Amino acid sequence: MDFTGKTFWITGASSGMGKALSISLSKVARLIIISDRDKEGLQTTAAEISRNGCEVRVEVLDMAEADSIRRVADSVFSEGISVDGLYQFAGISQRSLVLDTPVEIDRRIMEINFFGVVTLAKVVLPHMVSRGGGQLAIASSMVGKFGFPYRSAYAASKHALQGFFESLRAENSKHNISVSILIPGRINTNISKYALTSQGTEYGKMDPGQANGISSAKAARQILHGLKREKKEILVGGSELLMVQIRRFFPSLFYLLARKIKPV
Ligand SMILES: NC(=O)c1ccc[n+]([C@@H]2O[C@H](COP(=O)([O-])OP(=O)(O)OC[C@H]3O[C@@H](n4cnc5c(N)ncnc54)[C@H](OP(=O)(O)O)[C@@H]3O)[C@@H](O)[C@H]2O)c1
Repeated sequence: MDFTGKTFWITGASSGMGKALSISLSKVARLIIISDRDKEGLQTTAAEISRNGCEVRVEVLDMAEADSIRRVADSVFSEGISVDGLYQFAGISQRSLVLDTPVEIDRRIMEINFFGVVTLAKVVLPHMVSRGGGQLAIASSMVGKFGFPYRSAYAASKHALQGFFESLRAENSKHNISVSILIPGRINTNISKYALTSQGTEYGKMDPGQANGISSAKAARQILHGLKREKKEILVGGSELLMVQIRRFFPSLFYLLARKIKPV
């Protein structure tokens, strides 16, 4: 993938990895459409993109609202804009035990992390196919590969994304659609602060894992490196990524470690 002069749509772009990737790409891209719920945050990202001489379009979007996702996407395509890369970072985490969590919270997490991402991909994909190809990337997680305490619905949503987008890839590689699944480990963003508790409130704390994680800027560099090579899976982070290998090659050890995770 050569990013030069291309058009990208990036969700979750008001903060964290989505913001960092938007700013990095703006050094070479022609147009970046940035989406999120947070209009003010998007405007800050937009200002940085413009400073790099790249065109920017702000589309406020709640990923829990399928109708508004379709409406916004239709308005973008009705103007004849072609999207070369759709990179989806919008997502919400969780800090609650299965025993305490009502299914309504599980549904909310699935709605944002899975159905919202799928809805936007389904609107964009036909346009990519009809113009000969494109690149999709989604932010899964290490817990898209294994279950983890306090993350039941979050882990389920990321597993679901992996299954969906691997299937999409298998069906659409003949249309020159590449799919990269991002597997971030611990990245120093606000993801834990906005995580949902069993009450549906924000967790409000920075996890030590995230606090000690790599920066969003470093994560964006790792992501760009993988996207350029159209890697099917892009591991993002530091030594914590070892957990993926432990789960794969030493599952019994992994289960033992996971059981010992204390409340955060
Ligand atoms: N940081 C990590 O350690 C880590 C690890 C594994 C996976 N990930 C995944 O990486 C992605 C990016 O997260 P991040 O770490 O960069 O954290 P972040 O800064 O909190 O980014 C998440 C973004 O999603 C947006 N968002 C949340 N709910 C939304 C909704 N209903 N509609 C539209 N946008 C919504 C948030 O903005 P608003 O709330 O303002 O809308 C925010 O901009 C997420 O999918 C996350 O699950 C992160």
